[in-house]
Amino acid sequence: MFGKIILSAATSLALAGAALAAGDAGHIEDVTFSFEGPFGTYDQLQLQRGLQVYTEVCSACHGLKYVPIRTLADEGGPHLPADQVRAYAAGLDEVESLGADARPREWTDKFPARSGEGTGPDLSLMAKARAGFHGPYGTGINQMLRGIGGPEYIHAILTGYTGETKEEAGTTFYENHAFPGGWISMAPPLSDDQVSFEDGSPTTLDAMAMDISAFLMWSAEPKMMDRKQAGFVAVIFLLVLTVLLYLTNKKLWARIKGKEFTG
Ligand code: HEC
Repeated sequence: MFGKIILSAATSLALAGAALAAGDAGHIEDVTFSFEGPFGTYDQLQLQRGLQVYTEVCSACHGLKYVPIRTLADEGGPHLPADQVRAYAAGLDEVESLGADARPREWTDKFPARSGEGTGPDLSLMAKARAGFHGPYGTGINQMLRGIGGPEYIHAILTGYTGETKEEAGTTFYENHAFPGGWISMAPPLSDDQVSFEDGSPTTLDAMAMDISAFLMWSAEPKMMDRKQAGFVAVIFLLVLTVLLYLTNKKLWARIKGKEFTG
């Protein structure tokens, strides 16, 4: 019975893999992030650099409307000093609401949204929305060890332009190996040395693409480190419980199992 279940699970995984390989999904290069694997953690400085890339480049066209600004101060996240986060919030677009005057953005608000001509989709959850089978290796165990594939996808989009363009119905499309279908309407947003980092980190296209992808993974899953830690504690707990139950079981049955039945 159990063997059958394993066999059919293995078969369906293999079939899913084959179906994927046949699709026209773009090509995603696997890259290694600090937060991969059961013990991986976010790199605080990388998240700070990613925030800078987002602010200086991507935020012109992409919102982060589900991300509360104050979480930039969270431990396990970018962990910026609170006064710096407040100042950052004040520098963002004002908050407009129906029937009230616009007011300055507070750190308790969320990042602004973007809409209108030429803007792209909201990036708050993009790293998870494009996870799963967009990943470099679609099956579960690989995702646990090598990450879910979402940040890899974003990195691949940013570095996947070929330089070719085409015009269709008044829109320019840019050839991009990572984008499903091969043509994207986002002009290449990043190029070497576009941003300068205070910590002297490299500003090659590839390095900046890593930083913004890591930041967007954090925005999509800010509690990843807590979750991994809770999982780890749960596994230890279950191990201890297993040993205790085994010993209890042995002891309970010792009287009966230990002796031959003599009548
Ligand atoms: C000038 C505006 C503009 C800028 C700047 C910009 N984008 Fe985009 N982006 C777009 C548009 C428009 C799309 C939709 C493209 C499409 O669907 O063809 C898009 C799509 C995307 C997608 C693909 C989403 C999908 O559907 O899979 C990602 C990822 C992305 N952008 C990330 C970024 C990042 C990261 C930055 C900053 C480094 C950035 N963008 C900067 C306009 C922009």
